[in-house]
Amino acid sequence: MKTFNGILHFRAVFWTAFTALFARTCNGDISYSVPEEMQKGTVFGNVAKDLGLSVKTLLDRKARIDVEGNGRRFCDLQGGELVIAEIIDREKLCGSKTSCALNYELVLENPLELQQIKLQVEDINDNSPRFPKSEIKLEIRESVDKGARFRLDEAHDPDVGRNGIQTYSLEKNDYFTLLVNSHANGRKYSELVLDKELDRELQQEVTLLLTASDGGSPQRSGTAVIRVTVLDANDNLPVFSETIYKANLPENAPVGTVVLIVSATDADEGANGEVTYELSHISDDELRLFSIDKNTGEIKVVGTIDYEDKYEYEFWVQAKDGAGLASDAKVEIEITDVNDNAPLIHIKSLHVPIPENVPPGTEVGIFNVQDKDTGGNRQVRCSIQQNVPFKLNPSIKNYYTLVTTAELDRELVGDYNITITATDEGSPPLSSSKTINLSVSDVNDNPPVFEEQSYSAYVSENNKPGSSVCSVTARDPDWRQNGTVFYSLLPSEVNGVPLSSYLSINGDTGVIHAVRAFDYEQFRSFKVQVVARDNGSPPLSSNVTVSVFITDENDNSPQILYPTPEGNSFMTEMVPKAALSGSLLSKVIAVDADSGQNAWLSYQIVKSTDPGLFTIGVHSGEIRAQRDISDSDNMKQNLVISVKDNGQPSLSTTCAVYLLISDNLAEVPELKDMSYEENNSKLTSYLIIALVSVSTFFLTFIILIIAVRLCHRRKPRLLFDGAVAIPSAYLPPNYADVDGTGTLRSTYNYDAYMTTGSRTSDFKFVTSYNDNTLPSATTLEKSPGDSGGCIDFNCLDFFEDASKCSTLVNN
Ligand SMILES: *[C@@H]1O[C@H](CO)[C@@H](O)[C@H](O)[C@H]1NC(C)=O
Ligand SMILES: *[C@@H]1O[C@H](CO)[C@@H](O)[C@H](O)[C@H]1NC(C)=O
Ligand SMILES: *[C@@H]1O[C@H](CO)[C@@H](O)[C@H](O)[C@H]1NC(C)=O
Ligand SMILES: *[C@@H]1O[C@H](CO)[C@@H](O)[C@H](O)[C@H]1NC(C)=O
Repeated sequence: MKTFNGILHFRAVFWTAFTALFARTCNGDISYSVPEEMQKGTVFGNVAKDLGLSVKTLLDRKARIDVEGNGRRFCDLQGGELVIAEIIDREKLCGSKTSCALNYELVLENPLELQQIKLQVEDINDNSPRFPKSEIKLEIRESVDKGARFRLDEAHDPDVGRNGIQTYSLEKNDYFTLLVNSHANGRKYSELVLDKELDRELQQEVTLLLTASDGGSPQRSGTAVIRVTVLDANDNLPVFSETIYKANLPENAPVGTVVLIVSATDADEGANGEVTYELSHISDDELRLFSIDKNTGEIKVVGTIDYEDKYEYEFWVQAKDGAGLASDAKVEIEITDVNDNAPLIHIKSLHVPIPENVPPGTEVGIFNVQDKDTGGNRQVRCSIQQNVPFKLNPSIKNYYTLVTTAELDRELVGDYNITITATDEGSPPLSSSKTINLSVSDVNDNPPVFEEQSYSAYVSENNKPGSSVCSVTARDPDWRQNGTVFYSLLPSEVNGVPLSSYLSINGDTGVIHAVRAFDYEQFRSFKVQVVARDNGSPPLSSNVTVSVFITDENDNSPQILYPTPEGNSFMTEMVPKAALSGSLLSKVIAVDADSGQNAWLSYQIVKSTDPGLFTIGVHSGEIRAQRDISDSDNMKQNLVISVKDNGQPSLSTTCAVYLLISDNLAEVPELKDMSYEENNSKLTSYLIIALVSVSTFFLTFIILIIAVRLCHRRKPRLLFDGAVAIPSAYLPPNYADVDGTGTLRSTYNYDAYMTTGSRTSDFKFVTSYNDNTLPSATTLEKSPGDSGGCIDFNCLDFFEDASKCSTLVNN
């Protein structure tokens, strides 16, 4: 290729001005005309304008030029303009083809779109005609008649159309004229016509100048010298059986295959008639593929014939006799296609990873399938495997788009290996496949889910602050932070106190800790809402209820309600002298704020004045005579009673019960010895007793009147009808009894009155009665709503009524 830069430059400018004459062909392609040999960077088209898209849109949609197959990229997209990326040499690209087009795809993404861009490369007259050899040798016998024709070598001009060879001309001479003919394909060739008979004796050699000219502007030409040797009449030239030998050869024909056999005969005798053959006018490349047997004229394959490289070969074969006289024949070999190229799959665009929430029908990739063979060997079918939520949609030309056919779920399938198989229609068909890896990316579409519907935690009271109560776990199958779960407690109040002062949760592990020690006697259970939230954006959360149950510990010792255990007072029970064996004399009432076994109380006499005289019900606390009381029994009887609960370890309390065996209060003066055996002075005792006696009678009378009035107005709903004097200090804030343990089941009535005053004036007069004297409605009742076997004991009610009725005397 010869370049004439001055001219080219002029032409480039000229063309640039006019190549905007593009046409959008019917199938949406855009085509541009570009002269060959333009300088790199020359702008020749404006895609943005021609597509009606802004440059920004092109950038956003990742517009780019895709080259088909492994072709070279001669143009590029710069902004919205098409520029030359590499100097185009039409002759190299298309040879003698009259039309030379480069096909590119303009790929736009999102949505995927293809625009075919066709570059029509225009020929410029950059090549001159050239003869295969600068000297054409002809040997003509002197006997040849006038008018004989001798074919001359053709000149070659790689340019096409008008830029190709248009005419031949011959230097003026005495013997020959030139006849210019055309092949069927339009190619021109020339023949030398003998105009005047030759005479060897006159002139042995004639030299002529042959010129081939093209029709370009400016015109280019090439010349060759024709050297005609005039032969003696007796010499004969070898003559080929045909002027043109044609053969078809399948590509990939093995080395050694005989393509055809040429033969030439020479009429001469002896050495002058022996013909040898050789290839001429053949390129070096062709020489690597074909060879001729010098003697037999067999043309054989010596290299690899590839249809895809070149599908027709043209060269000459020369036959020469022993005297050196030669003649030529042309060989044309056409290669037939064999299905030797598997389709090639090119991934043009792949949108991975695919977010799992894309709707069905989303394009995820674009593929191009090519087969270098021709005809049916080139027809390709494409498919992917079954049972994947993807399908291949044939798109423009040999393009396919891969689209989703169903919703994706990363938590189920995180990546797909899609195998694309392309099969051509040759026989046998060839196929190839390509596996692509489609990974699905996460979207925060799963809220954390707790492993259990609800949680229960059991904590024994008096726990150590900071100890763990229970642990919750929520799972979130999403990826990374979308699946990272954090736990928190939903703020609320427990008994009016913020939850946070009772419990805390480890946000990462879900372990719930107690912030402080719990007290079963304060509350037994509460509920907490735990929220599990993932770290996605936006985050998803779910919640679960944790029920915290506080279990009892034996941390409360029994409390004696009666007799009042206050150290500085004493109470005395009157026991009738005629009490019989087994009769109920008194009762110790105790409660335990714990529950269950921890509140199951048992009573025991640990010390008594007269062992054997009294017994105590192990569970009832009832003090009974063990035998009939007789006059000989000591009037003052002291019992020390231990009340023990059933906890592990058990806790116990003791109390003293003073019994006075007497029918008459007059005998009371001797009481002093009972409670102050060791240290009290007799005088004080007597004074006290006297005072007590008087006061007792007086107060009894007054209290009786008040009490009768009160109890008529209002039906008491308290523990005991009538009352035991229970100072509020003796009652725990909240206590319970298990039904059947007997602690409070007692239905006995106690009449009491109480005075408070100086240390020594406290006195209590109590009488006990039989079971049946108490109306059953006034006993301690189970509240109907309490299914746990527990009794709700309302302290306030109790005290209200107790204080009002504490001085009641039951009639
Ligand atoms: C895809 O192929 C890779 C490697 O070939 C393999 O590790 C992976 O498990 C495959 N995935 C699926 C979903 O088959
Ligand atoms: C496909 O992708 C997954 C995850 O991205 C990876 O583990 C696997 O190795 C990949 N397989 C191939 C064949 O590339
Ligand atoms: C989490 O989900 C969001 C959408 O909900 C997504 O944009 C993000 O990439 C995901 N993160 C990871 C680590 O996958
Ligand atoms: C707890 O979860 C339920 C449904 O599971 C929801 O209705 C409720 O609003 C949630 N509560 C909070 C405070 O998030």
